Amino acid sequence: MIRTEPLVFLALWLLRSASPGSCQDQPEQVHLSYLGDPTSMMVTWTTFRPAESLVAYGRDPGEAFTRVARGNATRFVDGGKLQRTMFIHRVTLRDLVPGQRYAYRCGSEQGWSRPHVFRALLSGSNWSPRFAIFGDMGLLNPQSLPRLKQETDMGLYDVVLHVGDFAYDFDTDNARVGDAFMRKIEPVAASVPYMTCPGNHEEKYNFSNYRFRFSMPGDTESLWYSWNIGPAHIISFSTEVYFYLHYGRQLVAEQFRWLEKDLQEASQPERRRERPWIITMGHRPMYCSNNDRDDCTRHESIVRCGLDPHQYGLEDLFYKYGVDLELWAHEHSYERLWPLYDYMVFNGSTEAPYTNPGAPVHIITGSAGCQERLDPFVPEPRHWSAVRIEDYGYTRMKIFNWTHLWLEQVSDDQDGKVVDGIWLIKEKHGSEVQH
Ligand SMILES: *[C@@H]1O[C@H](CO)[C@@H](O)[C@H](O)[C@H]1NC(C)=O
Ligand SMILES: *[C@@H]1O[C@H](CO)[C@@H](O)[C@H](O)[C@H]1NC(C)=O
Ligand SMILES: *[C@@H]1O[C@H](CO)[C@@H](O)[C@H](O)[C@H]1NC(C)=O
Ligand SMILES: *[C@@H]1O[C@H](CO)[C@@H](O)[C@H](O)[C@H]1NC(C)=O
Repeated sequence: MIRTEPLVFLALWLLRSASPGSCQDQPEQVHLSYLGDPTSMMVTWTTFRPAESLVAYGRDPGEAFTRVARGNATRFVDGGKLQRTMFIHRVTLRDLVPGQRYAYRCGSEQGWSRPHVFRALLSGSNWSPRFAIFGDMGLLNPQSLPRLKQETDMGLYDVVLHVGDFAYDFDTDNARVGDAFMRKIEPVAASVPYMTCPGNHEEKYNFSNYRFRFSMPGDTESLWYSWNIGPAHIISFSTEVYFYLHYGRQLVAEQFRWLEKDLQEASQPERRRERPWIITMGHRPMYCSNNDRDDCTRHESIVRCGLDPHQYGLEDLFYKYGVDLELWAHEHSYERLWPLYDYMVFNGSTEAPYTNPGAPVHIITGSAGCQERLDPFVPEPRHWSAVRIEDYGYTRMKIFNWTHLWLEQVSDDQDGKVVDGIWLIKEKHGSEVQH
């Protein structure tokens, strides 16, 4: 009897690796997204074989995993040679109590993820959401990630905004790099909503890795969306439609029309009273003072002025609707601009440039860390450039209330030191307060 034991183990092992429960069925790459309703949260994950899409969850502490929510999986075939297939599972948790902590596991009878914890966001507009913001984080050299994970665990953030460029790239090595990146970001992204926009590194196969892996509000496969949080309306869009025209020139017009409609609605007086802050996030900036040859270094950048002949430019559109703050990445550095429109600085006053400024404020924050390292600046700052920092790091933002918004830059190179900070103060919002 004793002699047969190793064989039994072997048989069990063989059975186990061939049967449900092996790692092909194991949920991985778990992340959250917020659909704009504080009583709900979207959970997204991946398996490599078909499986049910279940989330077991409950209040934490106390309830364990007493509730079960059900969803669907979408089959995603990467465009690489191996045509690797994965199943992207999406489940919406509903009837959450705003502000309540929940524990959850996702998967199916074939395998469950480890438990994760999140807090449902608060409801209404009268609270102060806190964000971590960055772009350009890769699988290799994601220098800021350990600090972001630690701070997420400490409860410093309600939401993370990733302003394009992931993994370097999602599709590399038949999308295995994308899988590895999503596993790496999981400790952050499974605990707070991870809200994204596409960058140039997501371009392959018509942005399919981006569109399938994430579940943003509205049509999950869209490259643009908007959502509300506390006193803010946040618009995420694709600057890349302007650069990869072979995927459809009509996408530029389609997105532009959508942006205009969304801004129009968000600027209706009663809506703007409720959520006065309008914030945009897009990957490639309109302005920058880096010494590369990117679009933002050109006087008439495409994002700012549009396609020849000046069609669908975003600067005029955002200015017209009184966008308060524009978040960008792409340049692997941090740059803060004075309130700016058409190369003219519209300080609130020289003493307090960000108190009632006469134009939108731009922040470029693309130095979270990737294998392409940092992007240096031209030696002389431009007259519209207020602060330039060439360190690995990320931005924190807290929207205190209807008038006060705090932004600060964290240097990971300098051990978490805050190396820049401003109050953006607006007693009035909207186009009528521009210069
Ligand atoms: C699954 O998807 C279908 C069609 O997309 C939808 O009608 C159905 O409600 C979804 N099921 C769940 C449980 O979300
Ligand atoms: C690329 O994807 C978009 C959806 O984001 C679609 O409208 C467009 O037709 C696609 N283009 C090509 C060439 O497949
Ligand atoms: C804006 O304010 C800053 C800081 O006071 C100042 O250095 C800059 O010259 C001002 N720009 C204009 C155009 O007033
Ligand atoms: C908004 O927040 C700022 C910063 O905490 C504070 O000084 C100000 O009094 C607040 N305004 C209102 C109306 O609560």
